[in-house]
Amino acid sequence: MGLLRPEAPAPVDLPAAAPRPAPPAPAPVPMRAPAPAPRPSPSPVVYTPPTEGPGCPSTESVAAAADLGALEAAIQGCLKCPLGASRIRFVFGEGDAKARLMFVGEGPGRDEDLQGRPFVGKAGELLDKMIGAIGLERRQVYIANVVKCRPPDNRTPAPEEAKACLGYLRRQIELIRPTVIVTLGATPLRELVGVSEGVTKVRGQWKQLTVADRTIPVMPTFHPAYVLRQYTQDVRKAVWEDLKAAKAWIDKDAAS
Ligand code: URA
Repeated sequence: MGLLRPEAPAPVDLPAAAPRPAPPAPAPVPMRAPAPAPRPSPSPVVYTPPTEGPGCPSTESVAAAADLGALEAAIQGCLKCPLGASRIRFVFGEGDAKARLMFVGEGPGRDEDLQGRPFVGKAGELLDKMIGAIGLERRQVYIANVVKCRPPDNRTPAPEEAKACLGYLRRQIELIRPTVIVTLGATPLRELVGVSEGVTKVRGQWKQLTVADRTIPVMPTFHPAYVLRQYTQDVRKAVWEDLKAAKAWIDKDAAS
């Protein structure tokens, strides 16, 4: 048997090599809308005080008010500072128009804003007791504040708010002509009397305030709201001493 040489295989017709698929086209980059040009941020709302009309009682109309009623009528629509726009009630002050003893606080709180009267909340209740402790009634003294409209969240009035209101308080003092003023807390002491030291340091020490033709003795003491927060023997004793000194001055003045 002859060796069969295997026949060479018939060339296989290979199909021409398939062209390599082209690499996938890169996914189109999604087109983003161009970022809008940054808008200029709105400028903060700036309070623009009125320059005329009832919102802006003039210095002349304040000076011309011959009594407390006329003064209140002249200034109750005041919008000279931002506090005017947010108030519910204007808190002018109240008491004896000829009081010998005048108390000056900081500014109305929530209760005062609602009722239009000074010191009618918790601090007011304590002030009434303080007045009673020196043998007087609330109606026998005069009670006012540095600012006549409530500062938001009962914050301390800003210096420019106090400044806008100060002429009204000074005219009140001019008309009442008190023998003694008791300042309650740091704000009236600083804004009205010009003493910036802390109340703890200067309470009990006589200061002075000159209004028109008179120099009035001023007794600085703690604000009743502070006394309520720090209801200690020491703080209550200090206020008691300060009020006794104020009353003694008034009694001495009345006797002379
Ligand atoms: N505190 C003040 O200073 N004044 C008020 O009238 C009431 C609370």
